[in-house]
Amino acid sequence: MEKVEIYDTTLRDGEQSPGCSLTHDEKMRVAKQLERLGVDVIEAGFPASSPDDFKAVQAIAGAARHSTVTGLARCVRRDIDACREALKNTENPRIHVFIATSPVHMASKLKKKPEEVIDMAVESVKYAGRFFPQIEFSAEDASRSDPAFLAKVVDAAIRAGATVINLPDTVGYATPEEFGGMFRYIRDHVSASDRVRFSCHCHNDLGMATANTLAAVEAGARQVECTVNGVGERAGNVALEEVGVALHVRRDVFHTDTRLNLKEITRTSRLVSKLMHSPVQANKAIVGANAFAHEAGIHQDGVLKNPKTYEIMSPSMIGLDRTRLVLGKHSGRHALVEKAEELGIHIPAEQVNTCFKAFKELADRKKTVSDTDLIDLFRGGRSTASM
Ligand code: KIV
Ligand code: ZN
Repeated sequence: MEKVEIYDTTLRDGEQSPGCSLTHDEKMRVAKQLERLGVDVIEAGFPASSPDDFKAVQAIAGAARHSTVTGLARCVRRDIDACREALKNTENPRIHVFIATSPVHMASKLKKKPEEVIDMAVESVKYAGRFFPQIEFSAEDASRSDPAFLAKVVDAAIRAGATVINLPDTVGYATPEEFGGMFRYIRDHVSASDRVRFSCHCHNDLGMATANTLAAVEAGARQVECTVNGVGERAGNVALEEVGVALHVRRDVFHTDTRLNLKEITRTSRLVSKLMHSPVQANKAIVGANAFAHEAGIHQDGVLKNPKTYEIMSPSMIGLDRTRLVLGKHSGRHALVEKAEELGIHIPAEQVNTCFKAFKELADRKKTVSDTDLIDLFRGGRSTASM
């Protein structure tokens, strides 16, 4: 099955999100865990942006054993030189150069004419080619760029030596159809496009980052840029765990897979959440506390009979022990009896109804019923339940 490369930018784009900065040692821990997770590329920072970033890229590049390490650079020699210095002891380093190509970014931010932007891109890719075997070129704000101009920039970057072309949805504006369409358009209109790997980079401002990423994969992107737990600028980047698991679980649709060791997903998510002081919302896909939890009686009964009734993947696939049955006012008899057994308490069949009634009264008063509540409940009714 064709592989989609996973490019993790937790330590660059992710770390740019408010309150998520990491110390040097914390970055090293995250990078190590990313290697365990099996990501293909680690974007370790933006060396020209600060001495801390420079040191982090340098140290991660020196320590990485399996993943390619890269650093970000604007299309200016100073940035490329900083990457070159930071990555000089790596075997197969990659540089990531970018420049914005949308009308609003070129006119208001860069104050450059479109032709000047092409010249800067070409000059920088050529310069980077003197030092780097792998050159990724990003057309920032690609999804809001004029398609014909974007094709011109991409063509020029490939002819200058780019090996990876990244087309970002920088402000999370595109819809899946538009985003997939942009990849198709560029691949159709750039004759040299079969020489490079296409990459996508999606932000989540309208909650469409995962759908957009998958649309890009369907349209031929073979590198996906993402962050753990979806941390990143504003509403974040596309979440690595969502894309990785979606590509795996729906191989029947995407006909691709990744090299991720999915069993490391839970551990990675928890580490990043803890170090970045960034809690994961309970209903977050894949890694939220409720992603494999069931409270409703009908669901609990179904899952106990056959997990496939309400789970499209097993929790063990992402390194979680098991499904969590949460006992609350929506729960049913089956889950209560199962939970009691788990706590070492056997409820005889003729006493299930009495116990269940007492449990429902308690659950009506409390939002969730803890193990301690249950033990107290069963102990209180020792005459009805034997321990
Ligand atoms: O969102 C973006 O466009 C970026 C680029 C630097 C790739 O982060
Ligand atoms: Zn970004």
